Amino acid sequence: MSTVRDIRCWALQDQRQSLIVAAHGTDMAEVIYWGPRLPDGTDLEMLVAAAHMDVTGGMLDAVPPLSICPEARRSFPGQPGLSLTNSAGEALLPRFTFERVEEDDQTLTLLYHDAKNGLRYRARFDLTLATGMIRATASLTSEQPVSVNWLSAPVFPAPQNSHEMIDFHGRWIGEFQTSHTPWSVGARLRDNPTGRTGHEHFPGLIVPCTGATNSQGSAYAFHYGWSGGHKMLAEELPDGRRQIQWGHATGSRRSPGTQFETAPLYAVFSDKGINGCAIAFQRYLRDEIVQPPAPARPRPVHYNCWEAVYFDHDHATLCDIASRAAALGAERFVLDDGWFGRRDDDTTSLGDWSIDRRKYPDGLMPLINHVHAEGMTFGIWFEPEMINRESDLFRAHPDWVLGDPDQVLGRQQMVLNIALPDVQDYLYDRVAAILADHPIDYVKWDHNRVLPEPDSAQAEAIYVLFDRLRADFPTVEFESCSSGGGRIDFGILSRTHRVWLSDSNDPLERLRIQHEAALFLPMVVTGSHVGPRKCHTSGRVTDIRLRAWAAAQRHMGFEMDPRELTEEEADVLRQVTRWWKGNRHWTERADILRLDSDDPAVIAELQRAEDGSRFVAFAGLSAASAQILPRPLRLTGLEPGTLYEISLLNRDDAPGLSRGSPLLKTETARLSGQYLMHQGITLPWTFPQSIWVIEGTRL
Ligand code: DGJ
Repeated sequence: MSTVRDIRCWALQDQRQSLIVAAHGTDMAEVIYWGPRLPDGTDLEMLVAAAHMDVTGGMLDAVPPLSICPEARRSFPGQPGLSLTNSAGEALLPRFTFERVEEDDQTLTLLYHDAKNGLRYRARFDLTLATGMIRATASLTSEQPVSVNWLSAPVFPAPQNSHEMIDFHGRWIGEFQTSHTPWSVGARLRDNPTGRTGHEHFPGLIVPCTGATNSQGSAYAFHYGWSGGHKMLAEELPDGRRQIQWGHATGSRRSPGTQFETAPLYAVFSDKGINGCAIAFQRYLRDEIVQPPAPARPRPVHYNCWEAVYFDHDHATLCDIASRAAALGAERFVLDDGWFGRRDDDTTSLGDWSIDRRKYPDGLMPLINHVHAEGMTFGIWFEPEMINRESDLFRAHPDWVLGDPDQVLGRQQMVLNIALPDVQDYLYDRVAAILADHPIDYVKWDHNRVLPEPDSAQAEAIYVLFDRLRADFPTVEFESCSSGGGRIDFGILSRTHRVWLSDSNDPLERLRIQHEAALFLPMVVTGSHVGPRKCHTSGRVTDIRLRAWAAAQRHMGFEMDPRELTEEEADVLRQVTRWWKGNRHWTERADILRLDSDDPAVIAELQRAEDGSRFVAFAGLSAASAQILPRPLRLTGLEPGTLYEISLLNRDDAPGLSRGSPLLKTETARLSGQYLMHQGITLPWTFPQSIWVIEGTRL
């Protein structure tokens, strides 16, 4: 810290960036600079002076600070960072005064108090040197109980050299769609009332500076690590400044209290394009958030039986399917919905977590033994937070339901009030009993409807339940599934190990969803399965090659009924699975770089080994191109002056209509990184709905 002329300044920096926070006197601090690393010895007070803005007609006589918690009573011309009422329902307008700072090279904690209102505010920034990720949280303590309508994580300014912001929406089987919103005066508000992260509201934001692409330019990105529904506000003030606020969704903090904390806001700056932000999120999630039970164990190839049998569980059929899956290369068999209560369809039995003896007269062990004999481990599906009216649990405890008795059902089910200690204990006991009695190494934890009302206590309670189960079953991996990708965020991923990205196994949908999700998610946590020939959610028929390679881009699995596979299809699938297993030792730690394809029909990415020694690129042709021949595929993230050996791994897939002789159809090529990134790879012509796989090795 430095203090001169009554100015306080603090800097958090690594090789790639500087974050400079400053305050006048005892005022709330503001981020006055966040961008590329400033030269050593930079005069921070000079920065404060240099950033001082003018005053003109028709405005106040000074510019109110855009602080880390903008205060309404300081004439701030935008949304404040905090909104409170006291027990009499009166709005409190805090005015905070600097109290003290705690800092070291990687952490900055600023503490403030408001003696009149009996409030204390704390903002904390943690910088992780390996990734450049800044983790920011805010907390509020009150001497008297207060109701918090809004508490923003520390507020970041957004750059004014940016034309648009990119945030995310989506739906079931259509996750991770992007919204591009031009900046203009006023606020873009994303407020998620559903009580869960949701397909519709992934809590992420990218702010590219003007001209930024995936591979070049400056960009900022944010993610709010919370599973209970977020609120984001990206606002341009009338004076041109821009602010970004993140916190829990409106109305979700339901009880008055004396202690409040935001979830962590993850913030990253990149001067290497949007991919620089993506790499930071991917690495940070993989190395700092996810806690795998056995970190050195390679990710096993999954087989999940859902789309093969749905609720129709028959021992002999499941054993047959398991044997075929193992022969294809599966290493873990996941028994999906339908094994408990009297669950013959989705109208019944959620809550009754005991084995259905009609389907499994001798329990699950005969199936598990068979799965083990085939060399696979065994995983199982649960949806603990839910209850059907048609269940023993509901008949015994109708009062355990969250929300009104006449609420609208979702997938025929209601949500349990898991913040009630009795409900927590019941669920812990039921799940723990199954895990304790069986050799299970994986739980697919589902969550198939929104909450009937926003309630942050539910997300807090599910974290507690996960923490208990993980402490007592430390070798079990958990998957966060929520009708596919309805609960994907860094909060749930600090308790789980994989996400079921989407219920769409259509490889064309997957290519797009995976492409966008890679802005935040690394390969190791992103489940992707080879679905049936005719997709159950799109009705589209696709070739096994496309299905297999799309799944091989992420944590690979199969979900079709293997009995439908022709000899040729099984052969292709075995080969691709063999490739995946033979490469996972490096792809699991690879960076996923999104390629700026010059053909909108091509969705392409490059997975680059941690040490840069090799890569694999996938170019999926989602539809017919407008032009006759493929446009060169420009790569990224390579060393310009280095030679790479390039080969087209699946060149035998070239169709007869590819009549010419581009080099890669028959040969490997030796080309510089400069050429590959500037000119790009010349690929053979191919059919729409197919994919090229290109391997590269640094020479
Ligand atoms: C929704 C999930 O996303 C599916 O994969 C499957 O597990 C079903 N629920 C089971 O009900």
